[in-house]
Amino acid sequence: MENEDPRNGESSQQHQPTKKPRLTRFITEAEIRGEFAHHLSGIARINNGSFGSCPGSVLAAQRKWQLKFLQQPDDFYFNTLRQGILHSRTVVKDLINADNVDEVSLVDNATTAAAIVLQQVGRSFADGKFHNNDTVLMLHCAYEAVKKSIHAYVTCAGGSVIEVQLPFPVNSDAEIITEFRKGIEKGKSDGRKVRLAIIDHITSMPCVVTPVRELVKICREEGVDQIFVDAAHAMGSVKVDVKEIGADFYVSNLHKWFFCPPSVAFLYCKKTSSSSDVHHPVVSHEYGNGLPIESAWIGTRDYSSQLVVSSALEFVNRFEGGICGIMKRNREKVVEMGKMLAESWGTKLGAPPEMCASMIMVGLPSTLRVMSQDDALRLRSYLRSNHGVEVPIHYQAPRDGEAVVKDKDEFIKAYARISHQVYNTLDDYCKLRDAINQIVDDPQISEKLFTE
Ligand SMILES: Cc1ncc(COP(=O)(O)O)c(C=O)c1O
Repeated sequence: MENEDPRNGESSQQHQPTKKPRLTRFITEAEIRGEFAHHLSGIARINNGSFGSCPGSVLAAQRKWQLKFLQQPDDFYFNTLRQGILHSRTVVKDLINADNVDEVSLVDNATTAAAIVLQQVGRSFADGKFHNNDTVLMLHCAYEAVKKSIHAYVTCAGGSVIEVQLPFPVNSDAEIITEFRKGIEKGKSDGRKVRLAIIDHITSMPCVVTPVRELVKICREEGVDQIFVDAAHAMGSVKVDVKEIGADFYVSNLHKWFFCPPSVAFLYCKKTSSSSDVHHPVVSHEYGNGLPIESAWIGTRDYSSQLVVSSALEFVNRFEGGICGIMKRNREKVVEMGKMLAESWGTKLGAPPEMCASMIMVGLPSTLRVMSQDDALRLRSYLRSNHGVEVPIHYQAPRDGEAVVKDKDEFIKAYARISHQVYNTLDDYCKLRDAINQIVDDPQISEKLFTE
C-alpha cells in the first residue's frame, strides 16, 4: 500500500466544533420503536450493557459507508476513509473535552485499548525500565478480559498485580476510596512502585459508578506513574470530561451506550512523553506514525462503524437534552425499575442510586438458592430460553468479615444487573419480575435448574 496521501489528525488542522442541529420537534415514541424495529420482538432486553444497541438510522448510515467502499475501494481509501475517521475523532474530541484531536484514537473496543496500554507497560518491564515486582493496581472486579491482558502483557514480563477489593453491596464513594488507598499502600510496600493503576469508571459485574476523579487524584498524590481508566460503559451513560478526570488513558466503547454499531471505541491518550510509546497491537503500514494514524489503517477491513459516530450523535440529538437528556432519563428509569423489583422480591439494591448510571444491581430473593457462579449462569440461560428475558446475573460469594445484606429469609447472594435504554418499556421489567416470582413459587424449578 502506497503512503502517498496526507496524514489525518495533524495538530495544525482546524476543526469545526460539533454543532447541534436545529430541531423543530423531538423524536416520538413511535419513531423510537421504528428505530429499533429490528430487535426481536417479545424479548425483554434489559442487558444493554453487554453489547449495546444500534438504531436503524445509524445502521442505514453504516450501510452507505460500506457501499461507498465497495463501489470504488481505491478512491475510498485514498480520498474518503482518512478524512472520515478524522471527522469521527473530532466529534469525539469535542464530546469528551480533549485538548487535541491527536489525543483521540478510534479502535475496535475496550479490549483493544487495554492491549495498547498494557503492551506499553509490558515493554517497560521487558526493557528493564521498570523493576521486577513493580506493580499494576486494579479493582478485583476488573473486566476478565482486562485481567487476562494484564497477565499476558505485564505479569509475564515481570510485573506484579495488586487487586483492590471493591466493597459490594456498596454504600458510598468513601468505602471505595478507603479500599483503594489500602491497595496503593500495598503496591508501594517493599520499595516497589505502582507503574499503572487501572480504574473502572463503571464496573462491569457488579456494576457501580466509581468516584473516578477522586481515585485519579489519589494516584497522582501517591506517585502512581500512569493511570488508565477503563470506562467501557461510560460514553452515553455518564458525563465524560477527560480533562476533569485527569487520567493518562481513558477508553470508552461507543457501541454500548452511544448507539454506534459494533464495534468502535475511542482511546484518549493524554499528550505526554510516554504517550508516544503506545502502539496498536496490529502492526501495519502506519506503524510509528502515532496511535491515531496507526489505528486508522490496520489492514483491509470494514471501517464503517468508525465512520458513523456523527450519525449516532445526530440520533441522540433528536432526544430532548441530547445525550445528557438520555443519560438522565435512563438513570431515573433504571433506579425506578430497580426499586420496583426490589420491593416486589423483598430485597435491596446493590448500590445507592447516586452510584448508578444506566445499570443497577437488584438483589434476587435468597429463596432462589443461587449458590455459585455456575448457578447464576444457569439462571441467566433459563430466563432467556423460558421467559425471553436477557439479563446478566451476578453471584456474590460471601467474604470473611464483610457486612452481608439479608432479605426476609436469608443473605442475598445473587443480583440481577438490569439496564435501561431508550427502547425499554415497563413490560420488560415486569417480565423479569414475574419470571423470578414464578421460580420462587415453584421450588421444583430451582431444584431442577441448579442440581442438574
Ligand atoms: C469494564 C469493562 N471493560 C472492558 C470491557 C470490554 O469491552 P469490549 O468487549 O467492547 O472490548 C467491558 C465489556 O463489557 C467492560 O464491561
